[in-house]
Amino acid sequence: MPYLWRRIGLRWVFAVVGATAVIPFAFARVGEAARVSRSIHNQAAVIGFVYARMGEAQQAPEVASAPQNLSSRADIAGPDEPGERLVISGRVFAPDGETPVAEITVYAYHTDATGHYTKSGSIRPPRVQGWAKTDAEGRFEFHTIRPAAYPGRSIPAHVHFILWGAGYPRQWVDELRFEGDPFVTSRMLAEAASAGKFAAVRPLQRGADGALHCTVNFRVQRISNFKN
Ligand SMILES: [Fe+2]
Repeated sequence: MPYLWRRIGLRWVFAVVGATAVIPFAFARVGEAARVSRSIHNQAAVIGFVYARMGEAQQAPEVASAPQNLSSRADIAGPDEPGERLVISGRVFAPDGETPVAEITVYAYHTDATGHYTKSGSIRPPRVQGWAKTDAEGRFEFHTIRPAAYPGRSIPAHVHFILWGAGYPRQWVDELRFEGDPFVTSRMLAEAASAGKFAAVRPLQRGADGALHCTVNFRVQRISNFKN
């Protein structure tokens, strides 16, 4: 019996001594792990915040400037903008070329009636610009003025378009140009002819409202053609 007690007693002595050493050690490690975890969490939060701000800073100007609550019809040029009135009626289709795509943001900009994007002569931000969002049938409509060609150049007058949304990345589509423009080449016309309903050189017709009218169709792609 004394031998057994001695054995039990020794076990307890070892257990108590061991616990006094191990438990604080374990708590210290747990505390350290918690601190490390909090630190990592905080660092991740900071990195995420920085990346989010970088993303905002790098957001394309036409995306950052896009108004909220866009409709399918937009005025690019107000009534005081000099130039011949032009109505561009467009439609956006999926890559299959057949399915209309709703909820695509269509950004358009072009030169004014003197061939300039801005009063200062720079390109951005273009003074004559606007946004629309395609309706359920993929349709959009811009009311603007007919752009003029760049002064002193042989480039046809044109309208630039950038599209994004509805699951499609931001992307350029063909510039809209106009039949009868002296700078439209036979090659441009041949390309337009081969593009069928997606031809980007379009006829202009005078409407009953006195404005010029044209139609254009675009096909969105799954992969952006922007480099950034
Ligand atoms: Fe241009």
